Amino acid sequence: MLKKIALIGGGNIGGVLAQELFHRKLAGTVALVDVKGPDVAKGKCLDIAEGTPIIGSDVRYVAGKEYDVIKDADLVVNTAGVPRTVRPDGTFPSREELLATNLQITDAVAAAIKQYCPDATVISIANPLDAIVFRLYQKLNPPKHKLMGMAGALDSARYRYFVAQAAGVSVDNVEAMVLGGHGDDMVPIRSCCRIAGMPVEKFVDEKTLAAIEARTRKAGGEIVGLIGVSAFWSPAIAAIEMVEAIVYDKKKIIPSCVLLEGEYGVKGLFVGVPVVLGRNGVEKIIEIELNEAEKAAFAKSVEAVKKTADEVLAAK
Ligand code: APR
Repeated sequence: MLKKIALIGGGNIGGVLAQELFHRKLAGTVALVDVKGPDVAKGKCLDIAEGTPIIGSDVRYVAGKEYDVIKDADLVVNTAGVPRTVRPDGTFPSREELLATNLQITDAVAAAIKQYCPDATVISIANPLDAIVFRLYQKLNPPKHKLMGMAGALDSARYRYFVAQAAGVSVDNVEAMVLGGHGDDMVPIRSCCRIAGMPVEKFVDEKTLAAIEARTRKAGGEIVGLIGVSAFWSPAIAAIEMVEAIVYDKKKIIPSCVLLEGEYGVKGLFVGVPVVLGRNGVEKIIEIELNEAEKAAFAKSVEAVKKTADEVLAAK
């Protein structure tokens, strides 16, 4: 258990995160800040707290509209930002199209972290994921092991789920990774996909796998199309996987968006790669051998990440 975990943004994802932190007792105190009025952060925490006698949780909270509630947090999870929302004509924006709005919000978030908990480890979820983490890095300049984005944990879970369904086996049996940026060019790594230790191809044919990988790349959009806004339960639970790896010093390998300094041939960008997560945050970046097709797809995805990073650099 950490002393204090702060959640910035108490909307759909932040709300589930708060519930899970109370339920799993991952911190002595949960802090929740949201600008939404009259006082969504306080209201959501009070609602959860009133149920704690039933779940037997003595987790405390501080919540409100002002950022000072995050003071001295050990770990921050950032979801502040607008999500993708279906337009009246049924279309919806790409994650990249959220950049202008979410950059401004991120600048406020970064200033708050700098003022109230500059030493905290930060996991960011707001989209466009890779660009927002890059912006936080620009503004906070933290040691690189203390800043990461949550995307690969979610994208890999989606890939695993689809594979488990196609193979007719338990999700427990499926291992898989999705690397690269958190956009439609993300890269499901078939060469790392195993079912109970066996190559996935033993269970699922080529055509089905290709369809699963295409679906994985657009899985976020599929949910937006169905419920009208971005997914929130699976992103929150994927972030909880990362939080637990840190809180319990698990040394768990989870694809995460981290600063690359030459690994995978990339320098100075935040990109999704497998890392070891433990008490110190990103404890190790793992370089895996990709096949030629995966290498090309990864390079294409990195290009897309670079494009939004350039937009971040161009923004004041
Ligand atoms: N400080 C704190 N909270 C803020 C700020 C801010 N400056 N600006 C906005 N928020 C809050 C909003 O009031 C809202 O309650 O962030 C919350 C975001 O919640 P939702 O709109 O429900 O969005 P959610 O589904 O939680 O997604 C959050 O994560 O996955 C990404 O694309 C998604 O960028 C989006 C983010």
